[in-house]
Amino acid sequence: MCGIFGVLARRDAVPLLLGGLALLEYRGYDSAGLAVLEEGGALRLLKSAGKVKDLCRKAAADAIRGRPGIAHTRWATHGPPTDLNAHPHACGGRLALVHNGIIENHEVLRREQVRRGCRFHSDTDTEVIVHELDRCPRGNGTGLPPRAAQEVLGRLEGSYALAILETGNRRLLAARRGSPLLIGLGCGAAAGEYYISSDLAALLPLTSRYLVLEDGDLAELDEEGARIYDAAGRRVTRPVTETRLDPASSDKGPHGHHMLKEIHEQPQAVRATLEAGLRAGVPQAAPWSSGDPEETERILAQVRRLHLVACGTSYHAALVAAYWLEKHARLPCRVDIASEFRYRDPVVEERTLFVCISQSGETADTLAALRRAREAGYLATLGICNTPQSALAREVQLLFLTRAGLERGVASTKAFTAQLAALQLLSLLLAKARGRPWEATARNLERLPERLRESLRLEQRIKDCAATLAAADHILFLGRGLLLPVAMEGALKLKEVSYLRAECYPAGELKHGPLALVEPGVRVVVPVLNGELLPKLRTNLEEVKARGGEMLLFVDPRTGLEDQQGVRVIHVPPTEDDFQAPLLYAPPLQLLAYHVALRRGTDIDQPRNLAKSVTVE
Ligand code: F6R
Repeated sequence: MCGIFGVLARRDAVPLLLGGLALLEYRGYDSAGLAVLEEGGALRLLKSAGKVKDLCRKAAADAIRGRPGIAHTRWATHGPPTDLNAHPHACGGRLALVHNGIIENHEVLRREQVRRGCRFHSDTDTEVIVHELDRCPRGNGTGLPPRAAQEVLGRLEGSYALAILETGNRRLLAARRGSPLLIGLGCGAAAGEYYISSDLAALLPLTSRYLVLEDGDLAELDEEGARIYDAAGRRVTRPVTETRLDPASSDKGPHGHHMLKEIHEQPQAVRATLEAGLRAGVPQAAPWSSGDPEETERILAQVRRLHLVACGTSYHAALVAAYWLEKHARLPCRVDIASEFRYRDPVVEERTLFVCISQSGETADTLAALRRAREAGYLATLGICNTPQSALAREVQLLFLTRAGLERGVASTKAFTAQLAALQLLSLLLAKARGRPWEATARNLERLPERLRESLRLEQRIKDCAATLAAADHILFLGRGLLLPVAMEGALKLKEVSYLRAECYPAGELKHGPLALVEPGVRVVVPVLNGELLPKLRTNLEEVKARGGEMLLFVDPRTGLEDQQGVRVIHVPPTEDDFQAPLLYAPPLQLLAYHVALRRGTDIDQPRNLAKSVTVE
């Protein structure tokens, strides 16, 4: 969603701001803008609907220069994506700011402000913050006093991350509540520089050292340094973290898109995640703890049921995990979509472990679900997350970090399989804690990355099949058992990146409704496992075929299913291992989505209307 970038340096901020915005593009946005202080200290704004490259063109034509500066990519919520609605927003030439989040009481504030005579230039909720801050008393030539600014921000309901720039004051303010914000610290030749960013990815080319602002914090950055004040106005320090992420991990390498690169990074993401949780092939409790491994073991030994909560792709990972947890640890499992769970009044049975799963760790609904769970009497809260600096990572009691590395394609791929790897470790850990067999399954995990590679080798065959699907206008996915959530994920991926209507149903539900959609020429995609459900699935396939549906099947070769009229078959590496199967079938479906989208010419890495991390409800 929206992205913030700010630069306090002795050099021209404009190229750094534009570079930062380019690295925030992957989050999804529809307009961009920046503001700097020009040579004499006057505020200059430049905004553009459309892409960062449009803003770059404007900046070059305008020859805008200045320092310090703030910049933004906006994902429209209040008001369409226009130049006027793009951030920064300013008032009276005194103050400009960029904002991520939503101000829920903006209508009330706006009415008050209009009565006071304030003039509005945009439809955004953000503009009320500018008018509120502009009322703050300030001394001669000094900027907004931090405490006064915090008091004003205290009137806002909702969430915000803000970067603020004021006329004649070579200083930046950064503040957050409910939306992430990092302060990057310049090193080497750039020592003394500060960067504000809503996302670690945008800091990487400039620095590996950063700190995370806490909710309620306000940071004041100037040539004398960084001063941080907590919600109560006390001067505080926040720990400095050194990331080991490689700036080159933001590049696409030889691949045309981040999505394709990330699909091919899955063996490595899964290997690194498994290695983090195993020692000599034995699942360890320590990587799941937030400090005290013995406490983690004690908690895990008490678990009698699990409640898994997530959104989108992460929700599909939870659905797969429910099969594993039931089978291997013999624990009852419930899975919920976070946006539904957060408004329910759950009945929490004794010794239930709450598990939330999120790539970004900043998904608003998942965070709200976690906060609700903390009050609801669960045994403990456990998070599986790919982003160490995220709110989720800081707020759960037990944390396991997936090792997928930066994921820049909006459509999640390697983070999904890394989540599956983490959930395998959790299943084994709980099986072990409950005295159930785990050793043979754990041994098989070693081969998983190599087997994933085999699965990725199907790309050419998948590419050949993509053409017919790209011409369809509706695609039905079917699945059974362990591969049902994988088929659901396949349908989600396809619709996200190709904009084709793709729906998934349990194959057993066909006759209860979706069969009405099947007529000659309708495309149906089915992942097929060679297991006890095969005869049932074969019957469903016959039902589709009899009605002229054209099928693309991803099958274990031992099923005996082969190409025939109306049926194309892709052989997936055979497996009997229920831990391996979802990880072997998911990448081919991701590749299918990618190649169909490529043929349809969509914006694969930044599909329309979507954002990488959904930080508002
Ligand atoms: C789909 C996708 C989304 C996310 C969902 C949750 O490709 O990426 O459905 O999975 O927005 O995001 P996280 O995992 O960051 O909570």
